[in-house]
Amino acid sequence: MNTVTIDRIGAHTLVDAKTPMIDPFGRAVTYLRVSVTDRCDFRCTYCMAENMTFLPKKDLLTLEELNRLCSAFIAKGVRKLRLTGGEPLVRKNVMFLVRELGKHVHAGRLDELTLTTNGSQLSKFAAELADCGVRRINVSLDTLDPEKFKQITRWGELSKVMEGIDAAQAAGIHVKINAVALKGFNDAEIPAMMRWAHGRGMDLTLIETMPMGEIDEDRTDHYMPLSELRDTLAEQFSFSDIAYKTGGPARYLQVAETGGRLGLITPMTHNFCESCNRVRLTCTGTLYMCLGQNDAADLRTALRASDDDAYLSSVIDEAITRKPKGHDFIIDRTRNKPAVARHMSVTGG
Ligand code: 5AD
Ligand code: SF4
Repeated sequence: MNTVTIDRIGAHTLVDAKTPMIDPFGRAVTYLRVSVTDRCDFRCTYCMAENMTFLPKKDLLTLEELNRLCSAFIAKGVRKLRLTGGEPLVRKNVMFLVRELGKHVHAGRLDELTLTTNGSQLSKFAAELADCGVRRINVSLDTLDPEKFKQITRWGELSKVMEGIDAAQAAGIHVKINAVALKGFNDAEIPAMMRWAHGRGMDLTLIETMPMGEIDEDRTDHYMPLSELRDTLAEQFSFSDIAYKTGGPARYLQVAETGGRLGLITPMTHNFCESCNRVRLTCTGTLYMCLGQNDAADLRTALRASDDDAYLSSVIDEAITRKPKGHDFIIDRTRNKPAVARHMSVTGG
């Protein structure tokens, strides 16, 4: 057996996998994000058009197939797995998959099983998620104002999300809030969101809008570089850069006034690709090696070709050799086209 030492989240971890996944740039792939559905019960304006065409149901992998695929990745050295969507909790019977994957956490084969959710269904599922071994979740929330919440999500109800956050915390799950920074929409509200999140023991992470998928409006209207927002916030708050990492691309600041942490995800203004440790699997079994590129591998065919995982494993290995150095996102008024045509809800952020 070929055991390789891999630097992960600043610590040395032994990845005891037969064929650990190392990309052409020497980056170890230890993090798998799985979009279990491209559907969502919200229509956030920066994410989706109001009229979306979703993948035909017949193209979806079954939850058993998704479980087999995830397990194959875990056998190949993945230590962190995140379920995303769309909204993962709207996929029918999704808790079957969560429970199966949770077994890897309990057996020590997976360091973390987590979820990115809009929170709408959380009050229903929080206790069961905790029972399955989910210890942290990210809740996407862009405003604390019920009217503005309705405006940005088109279909969402803020009170439901708040109930969901309460339920998650009551179940002992650590909640992190993710907010997309939108100029003229929520930039003035960030201090209040920070005080609210930190007051409840939750980190707040801000994300720049990325040019993914056709939407009904012009993204450049609301694009907000976080470097600019940080400077504005620094007039009110004292920040210190800290080395804290959660395995993602966020850089964290400690906020003296609130005692909490502010995360910044800056795909547009900083190259966050250098330390990329992840690949993304869609609910149809397509593997994207980069959020911002179109190249992909068809794992559904590989999965269905044989009951033995050896062939699947070789197809994954081949895909990893094609992991690109980084994305080519640019938000450009003159181009007027998204950098990649697929929506974030296909690959799950
Ligand atoms: N740019 C940045 N973030 C986006 N999200 C959805 N679409 C975009 C986009 N175009 C965010 C959601 C959620 C996460 C899954 O991705 O708000 O936090
Ligand atoms: Fe749904 Fe998240 Fe997209 Fe909003 S951002 S429409 S919650 S997938």
